[in-house]
Amino acid sequence: MLRSIVTIVLQQIRQTNNSDIIDHGGPWMERINSGVIQSLLECDISLTSRPKMPWPDQVMMIEPEFFDVEYVINPYMESMIGCVDKHQAWLEWSGVKAQFEEWGLYVHPLKGMNGLPDLVFCANQSFPLWDKEAGASFLMGAMRSPMRRSEVPYLHQVLAHKGYPVHSIFPVNQQNEESQETISQQTVYTVNKTVETDSDALFFEGMGDVQWHPERSLIWAGHGFRTSMPALQALAAFTRVPVISLRLQDERLYHLDTCFCMLDEQTVMIYPRAFDEVGLELIHHFFDEVLEIDERETLESFACNATAVSGKRILLPSDCPKTARLLESKGYTVAELPTYEFLKSGGSIYCMKMLFWSQDACL
Ligand code: ARG
Repeated sequence: MLRSIVTIVLQQIRQTNNSDIIDHGGPWMERINSGVIQSLLECDISLTSRPKMPWPDQVMMIEPEFFDVEYVINPYMESMIGCVDKHQAWLEWSGVKAQFEEWGLYVHPLKGMNGLPDLVFCANQSFPLWDKEAGASFLMGAMRSPMRRSEVPYLHQVLAHKGYPVHSIFPVNQQNEESQETISQQTVYTVNKTVETDSDALFFEGMGDVQWHPERSLIWAGHGFRTSMPALQALAAFTRVPVISLRLQDERLYHLDTCFCMLDEQTVMIYPRAFDEVGLELIHHFFDEVLEIDERETLESFACNATAVSGKRILLPSDCPKTARLLESKGYTVAELPTYEFLKSGGSIYCMKMLFWSQDACL
């Protein structure tokens, strides 16, 4: 079944207007049907064999005017409905934006939209692409929760308006077992409560689950609670870049960016219990340095939802003193920023922004 879904997606990709497709060509052509690496046994690549990529040079953030907790789709949102202090949220959001600017990154601020309270987490609706020949573009996602699905067309429009080629290979309004009836009941958390086993659905929550290895053409992806395995197969086929998949196994760490944060080519921070043995093996294989993060700082303060920018600089959520000292001891400059209002919704710095490439970003 999985094979037939990937085949359908591939057909859709092939039928798309050619000018819409990034042709990476080259040695990954043969990976079209097997681009997802799920264990070290099937891993035939090394980091240094992967082409170099530049650091992203642009940041997008969505203003928190309409941010709130209005439904429950992760454990952090339980009992938080209506509890967001809007004024505080603006202050915290502005602090994150100011830090990016202080470190020389241009921030594109976008308006939010009434009725889309999670839109502020603008890492989730798309995945930025960069290619030496084709330049920068975006691949649109498909949200698992029906409550968040309208965010994708909104972002699609914004990105296209900015002049970026935008690729859509996932059906935006797909139905899953959740009916409209459930949507109106405010709580759709059951969608995510168990680890996905054999789902055929194409769910893809952008950079929440899928991330570029710093400075290398290699993709890391989490799956199980939000993004689905068939979507990762389609991603690998579309980009022709190897995708290393990590199965997530703790419902509190439902996106890859809650438990895995790459700091540079050689270094990653992880919360090890979020992964199975096979995943940990893959992580240790590719990174010289794997920094294990404290349980409380991971679960309560979202230490792994930090964001690294070039020059060994890290934006870290507040209240992670052990992580901050560890990073400083490794030579990183750390900016600690409060995001308490956003934690009520299960997000922090990493998901409050999209890092992407300008058309003239270069190596
Ligand atoms: N309330 C949002 C959700 O559950 C929070 C998303 C946070 N994003 C992230 N990448 N962790 O979808």
